[in-house]
Amino acid sequence: MREVTVVVLPGDGIGPEVVAEALRAVELVATDADLSITWRGELMGGCSIDAHGTALTDEVLAACQAADAVLLGAVGGPKWDTTDPNKPRPEQGLLELRAGMELFANLRPVKPLEALWDASPLRRERIAGTDLLVVRELTGGIYFGARGREGDRAFDTCEYTRAEIERVAEVAFVAAAGRRGKVTSVDKANVLESSRLWREVVTEVGTRHPRIELDHILVDNAAMQLVNRPADFDVIVTENMFGDILSDEAAMITGSIGLLPSASLGIGTVGLYEPVHGSAPDIAGKGWANPMATVLSAAMMLRYSLGAPEAAGRLETAVSETLNQGARGRDLGGKLGTREIGDRLVTLIGR
Ligand code: IPM
Ligand code: MG
Repeated sequence: MREVTVVVLPGDGIGPEVVAEALRAVELVATDADLSITWRGELMGGCSIDAHGTALTDEVLAACQAADAVLLGAVGGPKWDTTDPNKPRPEQGLLELRAGMELFANLRPVKPLEALWDASPLRRERIAGTDLLVVRELTGGIYFGARGREGDRAFDTCEYTRAEIERVAEVAFVAAAGRRGKVTSVDKANVLESSRLWREVVTEVGTRHPRIELDHILVDNAAMQLVNRPADFDVIVTENMFGDILSDEAAMITGSIGLLPSASLGIGTVGLYEPVHGSAPDIAGKGWANPMATVLSAAMMLRYSLGAPEAAGRLETAVSETLNQGARGRDLGGKLGTREIGDRLVTLIGR
């Protein structure tokens, strides 16, 4: 048996509910994958603010840095919402974790199942064949630049270095090589200097990957093309904030944000895995949340950090079969609750 440690950060809102189902599912496939997993539960986000006055303590960051992987539910909620720059916010924990673990590449695959094509706000013929991957730069740009307030003025700065762009572009090209061989780089090079550097560096990295087709589009156009012709995209690579916005937009193509996983990766194999959806405070504690996005995130964890691609495949197949059999959570207009969806997955996995 390979012994691995996974730090679990259930977080706030529906986080603990969806994470519980993912752990059940992973435990079922771990033994066959020769994995003995030690789950180490920790506080991060609003729950940590309540307990320690900060969204991420040094101890929890150190535990995450030392782990083989981190599985996160969601953070945030109205309880901690504030515009006061001196008050702690749950999201700070997530940002500090991304920076502290140097997780510079965020992977968000979007592949709507045929069984769900009618759940999408887009027409069937638009989404047919959509299978894209957003590679979002995660530790630079306006999220981490200098910011502040001076009297009636506030500012946030967007900065990128060549090295930061290069390493995330490399991730995108490597991903494209294992897919349909196409990278679309999204920027705002007609206005922003950081985008002009972005475009230059991505082009250079592209010359090292001559088999991969590369095109550049402006972010406003990308937002439009994503709903107009989503099936034309393969890998989309973009800077932090554009990626934040475009990945939510791309998520909606599937009809539900309750299905989308994400992986945040750095240089080595340690990664952070979390559903793309948030903490959904309006339904927290009701047992209504769809755990599929978290189960699929756990599958990405098995594949990228724990070296268990077959186990990952079993979880992914269970999710798609469950949906193909007509199981629908409330996110898709159905009635199944968190636990019931978890039960169906467990039944399929155990078969
Ligand atoms: C995401 C979220 C975060 C982000 C928030 C919670 C800070 O929207 O992971 O996409 O903006 O990166
Ligand atoms: Mg977001």
